This record gives sequence, C-alpha cells and structure tokens, in this order.
Amino acid sequence: MRHFLSILDTSSKELDDLLTLATRLKTEWQSGGNEPLLSGKVLAMVFQKPSLRTRVSFDMGMRHLGGDALYLSPDEIGLGKRESISDVSRVLSGYVDGIMARVFDHEHILELARYATVPVINGLSNFNHPCQALADVLTILENFGHLEDLNVAFIGDGNNVATSLLFSCARLGMNFSIASPEGYGLPEDVIGKAKEIAQETEISIKSTRDPIEAVKNAQVIYTDTWVSMGQEQEMKQRELDFTPYQVNAELVSQADPSAIVLHCLPAHRGQEITDEVADGPHSKIFPQAENRMHAQKAVLVTLMG
Ligand code: CP
Ligand code: NVA
Repeated sequence: MRHFLSILDTSSKELDDLLTLATRLKTEWQSGGNEPLLSGKVLAMVFQKPSLRTRVSFDMGMRHLGGDALYLSPDEIGLGKRESISDVSRVLSGYVDGIMARVFDHEHILELARYATVPVINGLSNFNHPCQALADVLTILENFGHLEDLNVAFIGDGNNVATSLLFSCARLGMNFSIASPEGYGLPEDVIGKAKEIAQETEISIKSTRDPIEAVKNAQVIYTDTWVSMGQEQEMKQRELDFTPYQVNAELVSQADPSAIVLHCLPAHRGQEITDEVADGPHSKIFPQAENRMHAQKAVLVTLMG
C-alpha cells in the first residue's frame, strides 16, 4: 500500500492486515499506550470541508504514535484556488511525512496522490470515505467476532459512505442491501464494481426502495445524513424525499434481534435517525466513532511507519 484513497484499491488481504493491526494498536493503547512507531513523523491534514471526527482522530492517532499533525483549514490552503493541487502536493511532500486530505471532488485526492512523494490518505471525498469504512468494519468485527455472512443494510442516500461500506462488504464477505428513494441510489458503476469483487466473495448485493425489505435479517443497520456536505442547496427537497427512510425503533424491530445500528456521524437526530435508536441498546455509534482513531492508526503505521 502506498496511499489509502479508496476501498476499491485496497485488497481483501490489505484490509485484513489493517484490521488486525488496528485491533493490536487498540489493545496496546488501552493497556497503557502505543509504541512510538511514528516518532518524529508529521501528518499534514488538509481540509476543504468541516470535520470533528476525522480531524481529532487523526491528530490524536499521530500523537499516540509519537508523531504530530498539522491542521490546514479550507481558508488557509485554498486547494486548487490559491494554488494548484499539484503544486500543493509537491510543496507539502518536502515538509511532511504524510498527507491526509478531505476534498470535494475525488479527482482532487487522486491528483494530490499523483504528485506526492509521501503517502496520501483520503479523509472523505464525494466518491467515498475509506477511513470511515475501515472503522465501520472494525466495529462490526468487534461486535460479532466475524464478518463473513453477516447482512448489512444501508438505509438512505447512496453516497460516499454507502459506497465505501459496499466495497468493504464485497471485499470482506458481508451481504449488502440498500434502501433509497428513487433517484438517490448508489451509482450504477459503483454497484457494477462491487459486483465484480463479489464474484470472488460470493456476497449478495440488493437495492430496493423498501427499508423494511432491506433490514430483514440484517445484523447491521447503517444510516447517514440525507444531505451531504456540498448538497445544502438541495436540503428541502431531500428532507421531503427521505422522510420514509428514517431509522427508528419500528424499523430496527424488523431486523435480526442481534442487530447493531451504525452511523458515521454527524447525525441529524429526528431526521435519518431518532434519538431513541441513536441512544438505544442497538446503537454502537460512539464506539464506532472511537474506532476511527484505532483504524486510522493502522493506516498511518502501514503507510508511514
Ligand atoms: N464521520 C466523519 O467523517 O465525521 P467528521 O465529518 O466529523 O470528520
Ligand atoms: N455523507 C456525509 C458524510 C459525513 C462524514 C458527507 O459527505 O457530508
């Protein structure tokens, strides 16, 4: 692995290795602290959009491993505006040991990686959110002790988070179903690529309009915002279209009794998820958020160690 840009570019073996390392680093941290595997190393964190989890989990992950992180806000760099992406990439490569970037257009993270001489990590693009998916899978693994043959149901927008989750399911042997309103499903090419991967792992991939059908027999129910960053002008229409796609107690009761509920956060409580579910017995959203840090430490050590 040279960069971590998409689950699509990450093999099942690489994902397995990252999960094993994440588990080891988490246990080590819980038992008193991590070895300084990234001593003296610095990660530049470039943000074109706001963040809580990605920013803080990467920063703390670097500190725990003996390194440091630099936060570069949207206004500071002006990625592609004040300065071309290729120039930013080459300049940063001379100063730091790794670059994590949150961008709008996935092409921008690819361009950063093309010109960088240090590893580049995707901290969310419009196409996908691989760091989130790794934390999601770690959380599922911790809860069930295995991944193969679990049924994962995504309720809502076929967005970046749904895309990474689907690719992870296809790579790691979990069946995937998604319920979305018409016009908001996963892109055809994403489903097509996942189906190619699924020929090896033999998982099933289903798309439906019916949330109840999607969660039937599901051990994992996942949702995300109806309005991703950059789509704020569509908010009113989306809120109308997604209203029947709320993850509430009634929907959770239709799933497997052992089901866990995941959400990448930030949550819009009362919209895609109710308080009752987010704070209820099935919810694993806060362990999942903590796992961002543990999963990303594995990525950092693998790429920068
Ligand atoms: N889940 C996630 O990426 O959260 P932030 O947008 O707060 O980083
Ligand atoms: N789909 C959301 C995820 C936020 C972590 C977005 O892109 O805004």
